[in-house]
Amino acid sequence: MFEIGREMRRERGADRVFDFTLGNPDVEPPEAVLDTLRGIAAENRPRTHGYMPNAGFPEVREIVARRLADRSGVPFTAAHIVMSNGAAGALNTILKSILDPGNEVIVLVPYFPEYRFYIENHGGRVVPVETGADFEPDVAAIERALTSRTRAVLLNSPNNPTGAVYSARTLEALDRIIEPPVLAISDEPYRPIVFDGVLVPETSRCIRRCALAWSWSKAMAIAGERIGYLAISPRLEEAEALANACTFSTRILGYINAPAVWQWVVAEAPEVTVPVAEYQAKRDLLCGALARMGYRVRPPEGSYYVFAETPIPDDIAFIGMLREEGILAVPGAGFGRAGYMRLSLTIPREQLERALAGFETAMGKVGRRE
Ligand SMILES: Cc1ncc(COP(=O)(O)O)c(C=O)c1O
Repeated sequence: MFEIGREMRRERGADRVFDFTLGNPDVEPPEAVLDTLRGIAAENRPRTHGYMPNAGFPEVREIVARRLADRSGVPFTAAHIVMSNGAAGALNTILKSILDPGNEVIVLVPYFPEYRFYIENHGGRVVPVETGADFEPDVAAIERALTSRTRAVLLNSPNNPTGAVYSARTLEALDRIIEPPVLAISDEPYRPIVFDGVLVPETSRCIRRCALAWSWSKAMAIAGERIGYLAISPRLEEAEALANACTFSTRILGYINAPAVWQWVVAEAPEVTVPVAEYQAKRDLLCGALARMGYRVRPPEGSYYVFAETPIPDDIAFIGMLREEGILAVPGAGFGRAGYMRLSLTIPREQLERALAGFETAMGKVGRRE
């Protein structure tokens, strides 16, 4: 996509290319985060730059655990936290710790494509299970997919690519079918990016057997700094052994530990988030305009993606038509759900406004659906 974008910019001119593919926040980190970073750099406290316990600075893990316990009511302590290289690092660490070759991990379609690489990298097998029309997990279908080889069900809410936020009822229904040795792994880097005041249920409160993958990449627009954590629920009987396994995995995967300075920054900075209202305004503009043109689209409740149906079943062909209008979008097939496209709200508003005519032209070419 990146290469195609470059080619298109050369051919059409940069101001006539509308790139809806990026998953990178388009804003700078909140000033409070940068202030904290400057303060820590200026203070130059001893032993900030050397090796540390592999799970991260104990004081940082304590702060993280306290916040998580306050938020969820579940008694997390520092012993349940492994600081990680973003959500990707947290996911790889837990998968490495629980998977033997041939073990299965259930993923919910449509899903973040990297999951397949992470799971297969640790000898696991991906078992895709379709979600319902509203992209909510289909608990009965998940139950049917469980086998003696299943080790995890991978959840992602708010969801990339659909923007769905799973309900507490769904999570509680999942709790009833997730029994040892299966774990729910909840990938939650978009947790604070929600619209219309939607509440994201606390996974650790709803599901006993869970581990959380968290990251500040999206919340604070610091994806390049690679900072997040893995939290093992204290409600797991094997919590201590699993936390030890994860600490060992972070070492042998070569992460060694999460970036030192950024551990202090996220622990000491106020819990600020990028301005969500701007994403919400762009969501309303894009979803409203697409619906008026005849596209079928369910406005996302969170994350910063719009997952719209393509007006013809062949999403790749339709993405080609959008490209003729200078619009770059990701085909749903990449997420395991053909007939859709993912449009990222990280595009600047002014470009989004100018791109709308192209969506209308592409719809005109295939004939508006009733
Ligand atoms: C669903 C999902 N999980 C994990 C990640 C990786 O996040 P991080 O950069 O914190 O590793 C992303 C990044 O786009 C994502 O969309």
